[in-house]
Amino acid sequence: MARSALLNVMVQAAMKAGRSLARDFGEVENLQVSRKGPSDFVSAADHRAEKIVREELQKARPGYGLLMEESGTIEGSDPQHRWIVDPLDGTTNFLHGIPIFAVSIALERQGQIVAGVIFNPAMDELYTAERGGGAFLNDRRLRVAGRAALPDCVIGTGIPFLGKGDHARCLVEMRHVMGEVAGIRRCGAAALDLAWTASGRLDAYWEHGLAPWDTAAGLLMVREAGGFVTDLDGGDKMFEKRSIVAGNEKIQAQLRQLLVKARG
Ligand code: IPD
Ligand code: CA
Ligand code: CA
Ligand code: CA
Repeated sequence: MARSALLNVMVQAAMKAGRSLARDFGEVENLQVSRKGPSDFVSAADHRAEKIVREELQKARPGYGLLMEESGTIEGSDPQHRWIVDPLDGTTNFLHGIPIFAVSIALERQGQIVAGVIFNPAMDELYTAERGGGAFLNDRRLRVAGRAALPDCVIGTGIPFLGKGDHARCLVEMRHVMGEVAGIRRCGAAALDLAWTASGRLDAYWEHGLAPWDTAAGLLMVREAGGFVTDLDGGDKMFEKRSIVAGNEKIQAQLRQLLVKARG
């Protein structure tokens, strides 16, 4: 698998930040933690990882803009390119000692995601994808799961943080999906939910209320693994509508129909 120079930059940044997260994960009880909402936490580990990613990316491509969860938008001189970064996806897991968290970095060119890297240092899993070049877990090429019937499928989803989303809608959707599938998982890191959909661990995944940094790298991962990704209405406005449904062609469509039905 030959990686482009840009993908290498992203891999280096994700791995350096990932090593910082791994060190902090070992001392999680000593971390400074604050809240952005009643149960929306951010820690010194998030900030440290974000600083590392920002420095690495700016060193390699000083003109590119950035959209980062903790720092927001940083304008660049090159209007064609933007990095979209979640320095620690899965902060709640991280702070609870659950090893399901990741650094997520995407590169957007002229409004299109062209490269993505998701690194989970606790599992030593590096997911990479380039537009037209396939998706990989470490050196292994990824392919979405091939199951075609919902009762065979394990489906991932997310539940909004307290005070940040519509829990009632979430319950209605869960009830509709639960009655049709083999199982539902709430793993706690949207970027990994998508990477796991790309790798076939999850047959499909849906969630509402996500930001671009949660999904930018992962949605490319799923598409490059042969899967389908749309917003709830079947379009391509995942960032604007903040909803995402991903999976293989058949299951993605069936799941989306169930969710549309649940919406009533
Ligand atoms: C969160 C995780 C979670 C999802 C939340 C996200 P964070 O990201 O991806 O799975 O349900 O909506 O905000 O805050 O841990 O980077
Ligand atoms: Ca967060
Ligand atoms: Ca996130
Ligand atoms: Ca985050």
